Amino acid sequence: MDLGLKGKVAVIMGGTSGVGLKTAEMFLQEGAKVAVCGRDQGRKNKANDHLLKYGQAESIYAATCDVTNKEEVNAFIEGTAARFHQIDILVNAAGQSVMGHFFDVTDEQWEQQIQLKYFAIIYAVRAVHKHLVKQGSGRIININATLAKEPERHMIATAATRAGLLNLSKTLSQELASDNILVNSVSLGLIRTDQWERRRQKNAPEMDPEEYYADLAKKRNIPLGRVGEAEEVASVILFLASSQASYVSGSTIETAGALGKAL
Ligand SMILES: NC(=O)c1ccc[n+]([C@@H]2O[C@H](COP(=O)([O-])OP(=O)(O)OC[C@H]3O[C@@H](n4cnc5c(N)ncnc54)[C@H](OP(=O)(O)O)[C@@H]3O)[C@@H](O)[C@H]2O)c1
Repeated sequence: MDLGLKGKVAVIMGGTSGVGLKTAEMFLQEGAKVAVCGRDQGRKNKANDHLLKYGQAESIYAATCDVTNKEEVNAFIEGTAARFHQIDILVNAAGQSVMGHFFDVTDEQWEQQIQLKYFAIIYAVRAVHKHLVKQGSGRIININATLAKEPERHMIATAATRAGLLNLSKTLSQELASDNILVNSVSLGLIRTDQWERRRQKNAPEMDPEEYYADLAKKRNIPLGRVGEAEEVASVILFLASSQASYVSGSTIETAGALGKAL
């Protein structure tokens, strides 16, 4: 199926690892151009090398940028526009969670989650808006988590800010509709990404990876009986960016193997 992504430019905030990197890879395979960012220089360079297996150097822009820093976000978006002369799609995938119950989470951790889940999105949307308007259409896809609707006590700061992001995405879909910009969310359950690989290597380095993830799926009671793969999330993101999703806005697609009971 032709997704209509050939020649489009997709900016992926947090595209140097995990879901974001897989999404960049799949956009390239569809003939789109990609801009990816992350904070870590080494990870950024590795991502750039990885993406070169899927697309030409002229179709890839990788840069360091902290999504919680307004000036850096503006510089990254302007760098992308200067490089590709257009921007069509924004994927907000940068993030990390904070574990902790209410009395464990520090002010700094709350602050970090608020920066990541609100301001990073606000800065990126503000920065890309004029470029999407110039194109006459645009897509914004915010990565979220099932936690937004089903909070867990041991992840209070992440869950609470995720809920706010879901609300923000909904309002943005209405606010930007007159510019023909479609805004959607993808809500993840437990996805096997670099983030989880780092966790596995730290906590259970001796354990067979397949066994580790099977065990995790069992402990979390994932109805499909397994954790998800980054590619399974990236496919949903590409659909939301595609010409097939031209009337989908304000929605949330759960990509979580039936995890969670929230409607
Ligand atoms: N995997 C899951 O099970 C799961 C579940 C629910 C939600 N999610 C969400 O899905 C998104 C992707 O997660 P993932 O599992 O793919 O994680 P990942 O493999 O750790 O990738 C996260 C990406 O975000 C970047 N990033 C983090 N903080 C950043 C910052 N302040 N500025 C710029 N880039 C930043 C990282 O690069 P640097 O570290 O170099 O900055 C990396 O490129 C995240 O928002 C995560 O919270 C994941």
